[in-house]
Amino acid sequence: MTILVLGGTGTTGSRVGAALRELGHPVRIATRRPVSGDDVRFDWTEPDTFGPAVAGARAVYLVASEPVLAEPFLDRARAAGVRRIVLLSSSAVAEGMFGLGELHRRIAATMPEWAVLRPAWFMQNFVGEHPLAAGIRADREVVTATGDGRVAFVDAGDIAAVAVRALTDDRPHNTDHLITGPRPLSYADAAAIITELTGRPVLHRPVSAAELITRLTGYGYSSELSSVLAALDGDVRAGSEDRTTDTVARLTGRPPRTFRDFVLDSINRKEL
Ligand SMILES: NC(=O)c1ccc[n+]([C@@H]2O[C@H](COP(=O)([O-])OP(=O)(O)OC[C@H]3O[C@@H](n4cnc5c(N)ncnc54)[C@H](OP(=O)(O)O)[C@@H]3O)[C@@H](O)[C@H]2O)c1
Repeated sequence: MTILVLGGTGTTGSRVGAALRELGHPVRIATRRPVSGDDVRFDWTEPDTFGPAVAGARAVYLVASEPVLAEPFLDRARAAGVRRIVLLSSSAVAEGMFGLGELHRRIAATMPEWAVLRPAWFMQNFVGEHPLAAGIRADREVVTATGDGRVAFVDAGDIAAVAVRALTDDRPHNTDHLITGPRPLSYADAAAIITELTGRPVLHRPVSAAELITRLTGYGYSSELSSVLAALDGDVRAGSEDRTTDTVARLTGRPPRTFRDFVLDSINRKEL
């Protein structure tokens, strides 16, 4: 039966969809702008789009861009016969915390089969549209309020590989998975690796939380989101992400991708 991938055009969802297809699973990609016959139009702000998206689906990969709107979606999914939900949350969000943490708790309490993915910060933040990447392109600097704090950055492909196991294993995981890369790095360490491999200097510029908020609002982020992200940087500075887990190796049978490998691949793709 079909697996519905919400956020199916995004960083993790696109990789989840591709990996499921490679394994021969029927996949339906949810997007506000469908382009192919396998896509379904889905918009969190339009509950009428929920029914057609979940019809005939057995499992859902759930990227909740609007966690507070997810409750009616869950009702609709259960009523349509969806048995399993795999929620993308975050290492920074424990069960029960506002937003994704509340959704985590709700899914664990109401779905017969579930998993919650709690990845560390993505390696992909260093490329593409993310403000970190924009800073590298514009000024050759990585600007954060993390100080010397370290993060075990994780590749979106490794998150997707864990998601595929959680979506397709016969036995439901019914737990949360803290997902990290192979070793914690400070943003200065990450900048040094980018410098070494691209041959062009990139520096980490540590700033205060207030400066980061100003910078992020300048990129168009709301002041609320900017404040949340600056607070998360403060947590990193205090050591919250200075840890690794064996989740990727245990569930996929191969070690998580290194930051060096990610940078080399990004250079080959002309993304760095
Ligand atoms: N970046 C990190 O370091 C990090 C770390 C830990 C956890 N996370 C979590 O990862 C999640 C984001 O996942 P991601 O990076 O895979 O996604 P993403 O690349 O940010 O893509 C967002 C997806 O959401 C869809 N979307 C946006 N607004 C929508 C709406 N109103 N209705 C329906 N779909 C909508 C977009 O689809 P269309 O535009 O095609 O409609 C797109 O596919 C967030 O919850 C974040 O907390 C991120």
